[in-house]
Amino acid sequence: MRKPIIAGNWKMYKTRDEALQFIYYVNEAVPSKDLVDSVICAPFTVLRCLVKRQGENLRIGAQNMHYADEGAYTGEISAPMLRDLGVEYVIIGHSERRAMFNETNETVNKKLHQAFKYELTPILCVGEDLHNRENNETECVIKEQLHLNLSGLSSEQVSQLVIAYEPIWAIGTGRTATPEIANETCAFIRKTIGEMFSEEVSQKVRIQYGGSVKVNNIEELLAQEHIDGALIGGASLNAQDFVTMVKAALNKVK
Ligand code: PGA
Repeated sequence: MRKPIIAGNWKMYKTRDEALQFIYYVNEAVPSKDLVDSVICAPFTVLRCLVKRQGENLRIGAQNMHYADEGAYTGEISAPMLRDLGVEYVIIGHSERRAMFNETNETVNKKLHQAFKYELTPILCVGEDLHNRENNETECVIKEQLHLNLSGLSSEQVSQLVIAYEPIWAIGTGRTATPEIANETCAFIRKTIGEMFSEEVSQKVRIQYGGSVKVNNIEELLAQEHIDGALIGGASLNAQDFVTMVKAALNKVK
């Protein structure tokens, strides 16, 4: 039985006051962490403020980090710095970072190793673009991402990993993959993990869907067998909506 995980990805949104308003409401309203993992991945500037105020049932994540322990990397943030703040999750390889900030499969791989070294739980993003989808290349692209991104990781590490399947054509576009397409691709990811590691690992790894998830479509997405949660951008900025979407995951544990 995989525990559902709902994570908000705030991207470059929310000042400190806005983050505080959000967390005071959400802390009280999210369900028990024994049933669902609720995570907010926030900008670096508000991580400490959120960690200090997180309630029993909310966890905080970053949206990126560097793969080195320390060094002359102007503007970057390291895994030990995140640990030091009390952050527990980190998104690695989001498609916006791959497309706009030179993130490659190789740097994603180094960052995953680094996250595990510092006991941060990585949320690894994979997914195809519209061109890949239209040319039937989805499985090939995702297989390549998984092989390169997970290279050298142990079965134990991959069992603890969260993978977010985010078709690039569905991110911020209002165009969601149908629940069937999302489930089919998540099933393919699980099968590939089974081939790369073991059946046991593939049954343990949690796979989220991400891309225009909203209050009105989350239930049917989470009803799918291979979708264990959601990575939510735009709709996670609203505290009430975030809580509604976390509560939708309770249906999976009934
Ligand atoms: P979206 O973003 O929900 O706004 O489409 C998802 C993401 O980029 O993680």
